[in-house]
Amino acid sequence: MAYPQGFIQELKMRSPVQDVIGRYVELKRAGRNLVGRCPFHSEKTPSFTVFEDNFHCFGCGAGGDVITFAMRIENLDYRDAVQFLADRCGMTVPQDEKRYSNIEKPKLSRERAFSMNKAAARIFYENLISSEGQEARDYLAKRELSAATIKRFGLGFAKNEFYDLHNKLTALGYTTEEIKENFLCGISQKSGKPFDMFRNRIMFPIIDTSGNVIAFGGRVMDDSKPKYLNSSDTVIFRKGKQLFALNYAKDVLLGNVQSELVKPREIILCEGYMDVIAMHQAGFTNAVATLGTAITSEHARVVSRYAKTAFLAYDSDDAGKKAADKAMTLLNEVGVDTKIIRMLDAKDPDEYIKKFGAQSYAKLLSGSIGQIDFKLNGVLSKYNLSIPDEKLRAVDECCKVIASIYSEVKQDIYIQRLSQITDVKVESIRSTINRDRKKSASKAAANRRADTEKKTMHFDDRVNPEAIANPVAVEIEERILGILLLMPEEYARCDSLSEDDFVTKFSARVFRELSLLYNQNITDFSQFNEIFTPEEMSRIFDMRHRRSELTANGTQALNEQIAALKREKSRVINSKGSISSDDDLMNLISKARKDKGLN
Ligand code: UTP
Ligand code: MN
Repeated sequence: MAYPQGFIQELKMRSPVQDVIGRYVELKRAGRNLVGRCPFHSEKTPSFTVFEDNFHCFGCGAGGDVITFAMRIENLDYRDAVQFLADRCGMTVPQDEKRYSNIEKPKLSRERAFSMNKAAARIFYENLISSEGQEARDYLAKRELSAATIKRFGLGFAKNEFYDLHNKLTALGYTTEEIKENFLCGISQKSGKPFDMFRNRIMFPIIDTSGNVIAFGGRVMDDSKPKYLNSSDTVIFRKGKQLFALNYAKDVLLGNVQSELVKPREIILCEGYMDVIAMHQAGFTNAVATLGTAITSEHARVVSRYAKTAFLAYDSDDAGKKAADKAMTLLNEVGVDTKIIRMLDAKDPDEYIKKFGAQSYAKLLSGSIGQIDFKLNGVLSKYNLSIPDEKLRAVDECCKVIASIYSEVKQDIYIQRLSQITDVKVESIRSTINRDRKKSASKAAANRRADTEKKTMHFDDRVNPEAIANPVAVEIEERILGILLLMPEEYARCDSLSEDDFVTKFSARVFRELSLLYNQNITDFSQFNEIFTPEEMSRIFDMRHRRSELTANGTQALNEQIAALKREKSRVINSKGSISSDDDLMNLISKARKDKGLN
């Protein structure tokens, strides 16, 4: 059985979806609902809508109730999301409840993964301060890290042995299988024996904003390769979403803690672990880094929750410039302003601070230039403005940059400046920019149309992959499910409907689970969050939404749709229209695309 229904009801009552979401998304009232910019995809105009007891994004289709939201935004499973919300409103979660459905449990639970990592971090730290940690301590001293910094970041040392960590963890009761799942050991192909993943490395624990150790990075102390080894994704770690040191930076970012060198809502993005640590040691406690990957749009969204401005402190080499370019684009999409820090005579911030000190670095920060200036300077330096042809191209390119500015006032300032530099009339520049804007607006509209088309054709439908081959059936199925989700009382009236009437497996599964709930007189389907993925939950809520405006007479509509579904089912069976192999599916897809004039 699941959590007692009363508990879930009270939890939801004490966790109004508007309040919970409001902590992550700036919401504005729009009629009866609230709207804001979707935290799950990049957008400038708000299409993320919060209703009385659920949310829906009209841009990316994300949706669900308050539990789905917590699961998605905090990257939690159902149980942890319930715990998270309960902590938030001071409720105690009833214990000893078995899972709602007998779906297969992962080999390693999140709680065990957290506690194992915590134990591992302690073991690494003890190694560092033990007699065997001398070389590692020397290395850290050479990198000019103070004892306080080492302790604050929980740095450690993985011994140059094959079984040290593995044996210590098994002694604490963790199985080899669990340790492997958590990326702390591998299994030798030859001998079948486990071996420690991190050996002879300085260890950097990666800690989430709730204080859990979720992964590790490990650096060699010489020139061997790879320089850094990072945990792969595990049950508790998603590399593309985590920022190193955000757990330390978040308080100054949110303004909960004052700091001499840091203004709230200003973040510094670095490339590496050592840069971040050196920055924090120098007082820039707002520095974070991605972990052995380039910045992703998920990272950008995390940043946008904590900061309005991001200083890009990337290496001064070509790779660093490219990374900065990508970061600018992604951060811009989520409304974060970026500034580029230009370092001369140093490869990275760590080196810069060692050479020139924290005060000089603070000057770099205040002298850093915004991305528009950065881009315009780049364009203007490419061309010789005294040659008419080149000047024309320079103005054209600059106009494209200015056209991308959101604020009209800011746009005006740059138009005037460009006019002064190039001696081209303000009016000519403005009309070029308006033309560029129109072009990109119609391009965006075309993209949106293509998206909608894709959606109605069910291309890339990951939730219900059978939909593309059975569009008619799915339409009917989702109408039926929508009505049942919206009006539980109708369920009792539809004894003629069974799971076997459904054509697609996903719809059949939703119906089965819904029956299970309703048969226990539970009408709130929050518990679905445990057995459906957030993506599937979005679809389920969407089915309900689509009905809410259309269905006046539920019983009649339901009966009509059930009859239609039965007809469609027998048609599908007779024509063997249901797909039986990947080849069939591919054929259907290419036929559908041809019909639509796509290829
Ligand atoms: P860098 O090679 O620029 O190293 O990698 P660094 O940050 O200056 O490190 P130190 O000063 O030599 O110690 C930048 C980041 O890229 C990732 C790491 O996250 C690193 O901090 N990286 C680098 C890896 O994941 N693996 C590697 O082998 C190298
Ligand atoms: Mn470095």
